[in-house]
Amino acid sequence: MPATKTIAILNGPNLNRLGKREPEVYGSATLDDLEDQLQAEAVPLGVNLVFYQSNHEGALIDKIAALADAGIHGIIINPGGLTHTSVVLRDALAGTGLPVIEVHLSNVHKREEFRHHSFISGIAVGVIAGLGFSGYSAALHYLVDEI
Ligand code: DQA
Repeated sequence: MPATKTIAILNGPNLNRLGKREPEVYGSATLDDLEDQLQAEAVPLGVNLVFYQSNHEGALIDKIAALADAGIHGIIINPGGLTHTSVVLRDALAGTGLPVIEVHLSNVHKREEFRHHSFISGIAVGVIAGLGFSGYSAALHYLVDEI
């Protein structure tokens, strides 16, 4: 039996406000609902999940480095608005050498022009946008098969 693998589910700025924030775009379910759903899915997959959300770029970067140093196996991240602005977040993710999947609840390509560019996509294994919580689930299933 192989050792249990660990995947981090990271959410960036404003995703703590899921359920309250622009529900017509992001839905009415909360971040707790998302984490509960993913945790339930992780059990039969035999994978350990670590959850982290921050509104602060530096806090996310420190957490990414700490998780990498702790020996996790993959990262699923919704960087929120940092997607479109953050070279340092990209560098932190690339620096882990871990497989990264970028997830967006909304279809960023259907929205404002400034959301069409991602600093993260170029270092990600894959990108999922527009599938709501199902995007995180798909990313989880993919990573469990790959790591
Ligand atoms: C988002 C899309 C981003 O453009 C936005 O800034 C977010 C959420 C999404 O999940 O659709 O905060 O990443």
